Amino acid sequence: MKDLTPSRESLDPIEIASIDEIRELQLSRMQWSLRHAYENVPMYRERFDAAGVHPEDLLTLADLAKFPFTYKNDLRDNYPFGLFAVPREQIVRLHGSSGTTGKPTVVGYTQNDIDMWADLVARSMRASGTRPGDIAHIAYGYGLFTGGLGAHYGAERLGCTVVPVSGGMTERQVTLIEDFKPKTIMVTPSYMLNILEQYRKAGIDPRDSSLEVGIFGAEPWTNAMRAEVEDAFDMHAVDIYGLSEILGPGVANECVETKDGLHIWEDHFYPEIIDPETGEVLPEGELGELVFTTITKEGLPMVRYRTRDLTRLLPGTARSMRRMEKITGRSDDMIILRGVNVFPTQIEEQVLTIPKLAPHFQIVLSSDGRMDTLSVLAEAMPDASGEAERTALASLLTKKIKDVVGVSTKVIVGEPNTVERSQGKARRVLDNRRKE
Ligand code: DLL
Repeated sequence: MKDLTPSRESLDPIEIASIDEIRELQLSRMQWSLRHAYENVPMYRERFDAAGVHPEDLLTLADLAKFPFTYKNDLRDNYPFGLFAVPREQIVRLHGSSGTTGKPTVVGYTQNDIDMWADLVARSMRASGTRPGDIAHIAYGYGLFTGGLGAHYGAERLGCTVVPVSGGMTERQVTLIEDFKPKTIMVTPSYMLNILEQYRKAGIDPRDSSLEVGIFGAEPWTNAMRAEVEDAFDMHAVDIYGLSEILGPGVANECVETKDGLHIWEDHFYPEIIDPETGEVLPEGELGELVFTTITKEGLPMVRYRTRDLTRLLPGTARSMRRMEKITGRSDDMIILRGVNVFPTQIEEQVLTIPKLAPHFQIVLSSDGRMDTLSVLAEAMPDASGEAERTALASLLTKKIKDVVGVSTKVIVGEPNTVERSQGKARRVLDNRRKE
């Protein structure tokens, strides 16, 4: 793999500013943002008043802990435009969640917000190893989902030739990569596995492809998955994080030279890690729920937004800004099985230790009497499709999950092509448990 470390001169000066400088900028921006929220969004005014806090009370960054949290439900309760802090006419773009659970949520951006977003995705792509002039293939979905358009504007801002393919039509993805020869691909990691499979079906060696950098996010993925994809394509696989409520892709990104967690673009977002039960702010390094406060956003300012994503904050390395560790999972995806906490990423790690298993899997939860059971649907690689071999692979995976994760599961290893393929964000868990 090529060394794609960006030059110091190409970085935004704030990426390598001193911590003091970053904290000072954050404080003045946060004071502005809290005032902006308080003066323009009735919900914030009511919440702050009820909690007995006023934007003027923020004298240091630590004072943020006195302010109330904001939750996903607040967006639903104020659907569609109730949390916007500017007149609707100044909102130039709407995005939203697909609303698989309950009502959809809507987010809005002013022109300044769109510009800041493009700048941060451009910064993220540069950190990943992409350069102005490169061709960027974008296979995140375009539409209300922030992935496609968010990546698109950032890639244009960096100065790339952008191929706006969106998700789906996997055969065509391969054809376009082979014909246009992009250096960068932006896509969910699970859909990248689909593209990899299509390469193999087409009899093309993925290591001969033009791809040098994959910028993967929108769902949890492991370092085991990184190794798998990097080896298959002979390319760098870099993690990008974001969420629509805060921005979309480009809230945090790994640096290609270190791949040691994601630098949070702290000049625009202030992170905290809290204990999800008590809401107490945890010291740097401890695992907990990630909470973000936007400090420059005009259209939809967010104060202490509870992401439900679980990670820890770490000091900066390749950049001055703090890192977040690769996400373990969301608190909503955590499965509690007979008292043991299990994340789909832990199952992924074990699946990927067995070369004769394909990297695709799903978890099925069901209730058996009063006990919950967890089944893993995995799939044999084409060279291991005999029934006896599949049974042996199933026993091996059952044992690895028991030994490392600590839970008893039922593993079914199907023939090739029996596990549902991801078209974007993978559906890792099928919950068939009886709902009370
Ligand atoms: O998924 C934004 C995005 C698009 C990020 C493309 C990166 C690339 P939402 O649809 O609002 O936004 O979903 C946000 O996805 O709270 C996490 O649970 C999860 N997520 C996003 N990026 C990562 C990542 C986009 N790198 C939710 N690792 C977040 C783990 C991620 N989970």
